[in-house]
Amino acid sequence: MRQTTAEKRAPLAIPGQKHRAVLLQEVVATLAPIPGGTYVDATFGDGGHTQAILQQIGPNGRVFALDRDQTAFQRNATLLEHHAGQLTVIHTPFSQLQAVLAERGVFAVQGVLFDLGVSSRQLDEPERGFSFQADGPLDMRMDQAVDGSAPQTDRPPPRQKSPGRLTAALIVNTFDKDALADIFFHWGEERHARRIAAAIVADRQTHPFTTTRQLASLLERIMPGGHAAIHPATRVFQALRIAVNRELDELQDGLRAALDLLADGGRAVVISFHSLEDRMVKQRFRQAVDPLLPPSGPLLGPDLLVQPRPTVPCFRLLTRKPLTPGPEEIAHNPRSRSARMRAIERLTGGAKQPAGVPGPATLRQPALPCGTVL
Ligand SMILES: C[S@@+](CC[C@H](N)C(=O)[O-])C[C@H]1O[C@@H](n2cnc3c(N)ncnc32)[C@H](O)[C@@H]1O
Repeated sequence: MRQTTAEKRAPLAIPGQKHRAVLLQEVVATLAPIPGGTYVDATFGDGGHTQAILQQIGPNGRVFALDRDQTAFQRNATLLEHHAGQLTVIHTPFSQLQAVLAERGVFAVQGVLFDLGVSSRQLDEPERGFSFQADGPLDMRMDQAVDGSAPQTDRPPPRQKSPGRLTAALIVNTFDKDALADIFFHWGEERHARRIAAAIVADRQTHPFTTTRQLASLLERIMPGGHAAIHPATRVFQALRIAVNRELDELQDGLRAALDLLADGGRAVVISFHSLEDRMVKQRFRQAVDPLLPPSGPLLGPDLLVQPRPTVPCFRLLTRKPLTPGPEEIAHNPRSRSARMRAIERLTGGAKQPAGVPGPATLRQPALPCGTVL
């Protein structure tokens, strides 16, 4: 991996910040922000990574920080004020990355960071409904401003689903048994999905689900042994959060936008926290490095093996295996333990280059424009 002065100066923690940005040193070393560069933090949260990037890029650099949770920006008003000239915050899901940057006249950047999932702060606020450990409304929307109203949990479930109003309560109280089982199985990788869905549908006839504890108690009751290492509600809560926030669709669209936006030598870094996300990132990056490669295995036609044709690569992987936090970081921040970081770089040749800002040098420079069939 390229060593830079930025790497040597990378801070391990941001002074005065309660929240600990995950894999902070690794992110800075890999993104290797250059002075005067333009960067995107697609998941601003409490701004830990944004702040580290700002420290590296100097007064002429810019960061566009996105978050679908408006409160993230309200909570960090001091940081925003402090970097008013360099930092632009945008309240939007990162699937809209390209569009919101285009509106601001930005068509290429030197780096994009995704630190997926919810922030510690969101998890720690019972009223957001993300945690089964504290009691709160069964909400789980990252963007509570979507419909401008309070969570719907204290009212009878509406008959019709409307996208902006989708909460975890709405899903568990109105989706049929098969739909619930599919959500738990596919997005929670929960092998007891059918049993759980049947128990929810039976219980809600008399007691519609309104709180996180109510759902967690049911799961504790019907899966007494639970999974060996995790609480019995972990997988169902993960699945509901993914469904409410359409997290995998967001990731698919966000990754596509990020790769499109990278200038020559630009880098995308993604930190994921569960295997569904990490698998998607791994496959998307593999395809970017070798566009003719299918998501997994060789291209098989009905009765013939289709030979992919080699092309000049447009990207190279910066991480063959994902980077993970060391024991020291896990000891300081136990929530970092499932983090996996992957990174990719757009190679020089054929990419967009914003005027006046040189991209970092790449190790391999293809003589032909990337994408050329050999
Ligand atoms: C793990 S936190 C990021 C923490 C941040 N890196 C820091 O150092 O403080 C993830 C943040 O991304 C936001 N988020 C998650 N998915 C999003 C999406 N699809 N679009 C925009 N923001 C998203 C969440 O609201 C949350 O604030």
